[in-house]
Amino acid sequence: MLIHAAAGAVGHAAVQLAKAEGAYVIGTAPADDHDFLRDLGTDELVDDTADFAATVHSVDTALDLVGGDFGPRTLGTLRPGGLLLAAVPGAPGLAPEEAEARGMRCAVITPEPSGERLTKIAALLANTRIRLHVEAALPFTDAARAHELGDAGHRKGALVLALPN
Ligand SMILES: NC(=O)c1ccc[n+]([C@@H]2O[C@H](COP(=O)([O-])OP(=O)(O)OC[C@H]3O[C@@H](n4cnc5c(N)ncnc54)[C@H](OP(=O)(O)O)[C@@H]3O)[C@@H](O)[C@H]2O)c1
Repeated sequence: MLIHAAAGAVGHAAVQLAKAEGAYVIGTAPADDHDFLRDLGTDELVDDTADFAATVHSVDTALDLVGGDFGPRTLGTLRPGGLLLAAVPGAPGLAPEEAEARGMRCAVITPEPSGERLTKIAALLANTRIRLHVEAALPFTDAARAHELGDAGHRKGALVLALPN
């Protein structure tokens, strides 16, 4: 499985969930984040400034957390019949029909609550098979500051806003 933006809040969780399912995981991320991602079990890493499409081939599934031209470029890394999961709202970069015309599949994914999945993830967290890296936790009243930190980039894992009791 290829996971773009693997060091981010969603990406680093996706890496660990894919590993827990037994996948061989290739991540794209800034070079500074490669050690962090290796520690989480990522099997191969591609620098985010490199042309991933030139080195990654024949993957079964790709998760696009970047959007724009990443969708069309990622199609070339898939095996015939492979699946592209486009997760950036409003910017999947290509239509599912386009993927089908090239012999691949594309699904645009949106967050949907599922008690069954959350129970499974809670068990993985409880037995520390996955761990979430919290870069910073801020009180809810600092939401504006959290957005500034998020927009500034160059951080790993998640930013957390803590709700008052
Ligand atoms: N559909 C859904 O269910 C769903 C749910 C949640 C989030 N999302 C979307 O998923 C995306 C990621 O969310 P997030 O919360 O994980 O964001 P995030 O925590 O800001 O992480 C983004 C990561 O991507 C890295 N990055 C930026 N450009 C890259 C590139 N070209 N190649 C590889 N890595 C790159 C960033 O590194 P630097 O900061 O060092 O550049 C950062 O580590 C967002 O667009 C969000 O809207 C979708």
